[in-house]
Amino acid sequence: MAELRRPENMQRITTPEQAEAFIDEQIAALREQIGDRKVLLALSGGVDSSVVAALLIKAVGQQLTCVHVNHGLLRKGEPEQVIEVFRNQMNANLIYVDAVDRFLDKLAGVSDPETKRKIIGNEFIEVFAEEARKLDGISLLAQGTIWPDILESEAGIKAHHNAGGLPADLNFELVEPVRILFKDEVRVVGKELGLPDGMVFRQPFPGPGLGVRCVGAITRDRLEAVRESDAILREEFAKNGLEGKVWQYFTIVPDFRTTGIHDGQRSYDWPVVIRAVNTRDAMSATVEDVPFTLLQHITDRITHEVKGVNRVLFDLTPKPTGTIEWE
Ligand code: XMP
Repeated sequence: MAELRRPENMQRITTPEQAEAFIDEQIAALREQIGDRKVLLALSGGVDSSVVAALLIKAVGQQLTCVHVNHGLLRKGEPEQVIEVFRNQMNANLIYVDAVDRFLDKLAGVSDPETKRKIIGNEFIEVFAEEARKLDGISLLAQGTIWPDILESEAGIKAHHNAGGLPADLNFELVEPVRILFKDEVRVVGKELGLPDGMVFRQPFPGPGLGVRCVGAITRDRLEAVRESDAILREEFAKNGLEGKVWQYFTIVPDFRTTGIHDGQRSYDWPVVIRAVNTRDAMSATVEDVPFTLLQHITDRITHEVKGVNRVLFDLTPKPTGTIEWE
């Protein structure tokens, strides 16, 4: 199964009927591969791992154990949604790991973006490996690898295998049920599996999460400002018909303060930067023409509702010259 390739003539999955057929095929294939063995899955709540979880729950139910690592860099409401959808609604075997302090302690004082990414990536593998070692008799590891991951890793653009980073004593056989699908097909399948739209159609979110949007050395209070302002931006984009239309939108909080006025008093607080871009492949991007009145409304909400913020800016920079993320 690990070597499975997308057939050259495979039709793009665009309809519920095609998704249904794919789901039935995969359930049979998963049952055959897994038998009565147990499977482990790192469930981030992103589209790919969520679809893999839903497929495995249908195919082998309680033989699947999902591990959700909360590294403290997730968006507002994400860990709660994972628990609600998978544990409460789908009755999955879900281990929730609160690793917030562990990650934030390791990241304290670290300002170099690539070092931050390495710490987050390595710590994730550590935490996941620790959880895996606590469990007995698991021989399979499910992954949300998709077809572009395979193509990009073959082209040398990126290394995709999460399992590649696991310590040698954890020698799992891989289970990759969405391996031959493109992202849009994964979404169609996810919808058919009954996952909520907020999960299936969510915008791309980087592995290091809000960590790369809390520019420089991460502090808990500034990270909260990123999380809260991001939640307001998402809420307002959804209310105003921009969710699903704009490719990626989020907020950034730089590591400096500016002067302002709060309740008649001088304040010395952070600015929040809004970024909203459109792209096909993330290699280049244009800036969304967000209505000025909406920007004013969002500014009003962020400056009044988010602690430690007194100013809002809109990033007008296309890629190139700016990257989509700020670090
Ligand atoms: P940039 O900032 O390079 O971003 O223009 C292009 C796309 O990639 C995402 N991105 C990441 N995704 N790990 C990820 O999984 C990362 O370290 C990372 N850095 C950037 C970014 O959100 C955008 O969609």
